[in-house]
Amino acid sequence: MCGIVGYIGWQKAQDVVMNGLEKLEYRGYDSSGIATIFNGQLKLSKYKGRLSVLSKHLEEDPHQGHVGIGHTRWATHGQPSDVNSHPHINESNSVAVIHNGIIENYRELKKELIDEGYIFKSQTDTEVVVHMIDKYLKTSVDILSAVNMAVSRLRGAYALGIISKADPDKIIAVRKESPLIVGIGDGENFFASDIPAILEYTREIYYVDNDETAVISKDDIIFYDKDKNIIKKDKFTITWDMDAATKGGYPHFMLKEINEQPKAVADTILRRIDENNNLILDDIRIDDTQIQNINDIYIVACGTAYNAGLIGKYVIENIANIRVRVDIASEFRYNKQFINDKTLVILVSQSGETADTLAAQKLAKAKGCRILSITNVVGSSVARNSDDVFYTLAGPEIAVASTKAYTTMLAAFYMIGIELAKLKREISINEYHKIVELLKKLPQKVEETLKTEEKCIEIAEKIKNAKSAFYIGRGLDDSVGKEGALKLKEISYIYTESFAAGELKHGTIALIEENTPVIAVLTQDKLLEKTISNIQEVKARGAYTIIITDKDSNDIANYADDIVVVPKVYDLFSSILAVIPAQFIAYHTSIKKGNDVDKPRNLAKSVTVE
Ligand code: M6R
Repeated sequence: MCGIVGYIGWQKAQDVVMNGLEKLEYRGYDSSGIATIFNGQLKLSKYKGRLSVLSKHLEEDPHQGHVGIGHTRWATHGQPSDVNSHPHINESNSVAVIHNGIIENYRELKKELIDEGYIFKSQTDTEVVVHMIDKYLKTSVDILSAVNMAVSRLRGAYALGIISKADPDKIIAVRKESPLIVGIGDGENFFASDIPAILEYTREIYYVDNDETAVISKDDIIFYDKDKNIIKKDKFTITWDMDAATKGGYPHFMLKEINEQPKAVADTILRRIDENNNLILDDIRIDDTQIQNINDIYIVACGTAYNAGLIGKYVIENIANIRVRVDIASEFRYNKQFINDKTLVILVSQSGETADTLAAQKLAKAKGCRILSITNVVGSSVARNSDDVFYTLAGPEIAVASTKAYTTMLAAFYMIGIELAKLKREISINEYHKIVELLKKLPQKVEETLKTEEKCIEIAEKIKNAKSAFYIGRGLDDSVGKEGALKLKEISYIYTESFAAGELKHGTIALIEENTPVIAVLTQDKLLEKTISNIQEVKARGAYTIIITDKDSNDIANYADDIVVVPKVYDLFSSILAVIPAQFIAYHTSIKKGNDVDKPRNLAKSVTVE
């Protein structure tokens, strides 16, 4: 997904902007560019391809300015190309614009501008912004007024960065729906779409909210609200450091993040339990009466967060006895929703900036639902617009393939489920304390599960040339399989699907041939025999069968070609461990195939377009 960075101050803008863009590479992109102003001249360099392509050109023809903006583009309108890359400039080469998001009404604006004589060079939606600013500059007193006029014409999502020869000592940054932060320096200031881009320079930041504009000069930052009134904003201090956002000795972010799970899960769980085994969920302020008022729960999310929601549904329904529906966020607003002020909507999003999830949030709010979000990013859009926020404390997740965000989301659901069960009096206080005691043991069990890596490397070797693979399981294990399949396909590019084990025989079993890998997740005692029968069905048809289980391997040795054993925990918590071998299998298969594990093709870390 696109990344933006801007700088104004005493350093060379090129150095700071390029450094920041490098830190955003993990978001996924296909081209990049930079624009600076120096001695009254605006200079532009932009190219299709990796940042190294841009760097090479900058070595030959460096930028000297101390004010600049830069962009990594992930194509939405118009294919990746030099001309479609950002920044975009006006015809007189006096204004440059970078943009994250999508301008929904760009076609009508483009037509208007073409009718007025503007010539478009790119196929992007963004180019309308720069021409619109140019148009209003002709009648405005300054660049800020022109930007305000232009922005008032836009519909859609945008984080914009603008520099202009007319006012070379300022950068203007505007936000609607796409993430934007402003970093505070000493004799220098910054803006970016994401914290790692500027963390090397400052920890003090402002989160820009929707419809706000920042006018950034080297010694000053002024914020305006949507009515153009100057507003005062609260600063935030970032507590995590660059080390947490870099590889720390591991070859890839994904492997580092898999190995960080014991700590991430411990951070998420342990500080929320007091010495008497009570959960302290002080960010969730739903009281006793409100809980009794809730008829049902909707969990809404995308991708891995959606898969975590499937586990959340199972846990909440089984322990708290509340009906739960899980919806894919991009479908939610087009489905028939049965939601009202008696519905609790739980939004799950690692980044807190996923466009589909934000759109679902808007709709749920409009219908009067109480919104509880589970997110990993403090101050993110999802968090700021929720009634209650449960922060997973996983630290920054950089690899596109989500791992520690998923396990900490499960930890969040376990805690929410247990607390709801207590509030709804579905479990006695005694049971509650016992379950919390079991929860406290999870980080240690996650640590022990990391020992499965060796076995997973062997399995990766055996499946690396497969054309397709399958995960099967029942109940919770089926949901873990969904996440296992997503991990394997997104980074190994092996076509992988996950099925409820009993459903295979209704069609999919036709795809099983000699050596097709079938990975069965087997942790649920009550479903054990049934799933074992389904494993036999695929084994009989030549499948290479692997079981991920918490059972004694001697008891099931005859049922599979390979077995990965994870520690035994309370049945309801088993998924948080069973998923770890699935993560390792995906990671090592991808490595063995020589893929770019942290930046898989066609994918972006944070999907901020619908
Ligand atoms: O930031 P979010 O949790 O809202 O992101 C949702 C999905 O885009 C994300 O989980 C995606 O599926 C992962 N990259 C998969 O590993």
